[in-house]
Amino acid sequence: MKKVVSVVNLKGGVGKTTTAVNIAACWAEMGKKVLLVDMDPQGSASISLGVMNEGNELLYSLKSSTALTVTATSMAGLDLVPSGMALATAGMWYAESAGNDVLARCLEKTEGDWDIVIIDCPPSLGFQTMNSLAACQYVIIPVETSFLGLNGVKQMVAAIESFKMTINPDIQIEAVVPCRAQRRRRVHWDIMDALKEMFPRRVSPIVRENVSLTEAPGRGKPVILTDRLSKGADDYRLVTLWLDERINGTEDPTVNQVRQLISSI
Ligand SMILES: Nc1ncnc2c1ncn2[C@@H]1O[C@H](COP(=O)(O)OP(=O)(O)OP(=O)(O)O)[C@@H](O)[C@H]1O
Ligand SMILES: [Mg+2]
Repeated sequence: MKKVVSVVNLKGGVGKTTTAVNIAACWAEMGKKVLLVDMDPQGSASISLGVMNEGNELLYSLKSSTALTVTATSMAGLDLVPSGMALATAGMWYAESAGNDVLARCLEKTEGDWDIVIIDCPPSLGFQTMNSLAACQYVIIPVETSFLGLNGVKQMVAAIESFKMTINPDIQIEAVVPCRAQRRRRVHWDIMDALKEMFPRRVSPIVRENVSLTEAPGRGKPVILTDRLSKGADDYRLVTLWLDERINGTEDPTVNQVRQLISSI
């Protein structure tokens, strides 16, 4: 079974797409074969990789439970299932349909030798997110280190716990990724303490607020290609190494060297 990771948070604008796109790219840079599935009708992950799409192919695959249409990206090892506005109508169709497992069935039928599949979800608990949660084993929750951000995570945990009991018993919250972190603010440290208490050993290294991460989507490439020496690139490389150790259980001998290098910058 492919390793499938959903990047989820019901709160909008917290860094889901930025995290999904950039960990996908960092995993590809590490030599893994990665498929990024854009399940958001906003199509932000697709646009961030320079792909404009209406979402019709993805909608068709979901409706007919057939293989997903995969597009290559400008980054070697990173493929994309693009999305767009048409996917918004999936919710209407869903109201009349039977299950949350259509994406899982489509993924099973999609041929490819990917090591990891990453799903970018929209900020709602509708058809797209339910299907993503049913199709994955691992959940990553990007969170802004603010009071409202913490509240959003609590809601998300409650939703996933009920989902685990009813639909997908295999699902687990693998990581919480603090995004847009501003270490000079006191609230950052308060929220980090609260997160570490709620999720022992599951809080990843932080992703700092960084202008290169804001600019990269406009260039249609992940930050490791647009500004490879930026703080944003460093932070997502470190988060991906941390996730790789957890999900693939691999301790690359260079990991500690990279870690020391990054922390010394
Ligand atoms: N660490 C960061 N530093 C600077 N800007 C960031 C960072 N993370 C995300 N952003 C910017 O914040 C905005 C929202 O990020 P993003 O689109 O990843 O959030 P999202 O949770 O996917 O939003 P939505 O809920 O709408 O899907 C984007 O403009 C993005 O470029
Ligand atoms: Mg998004």
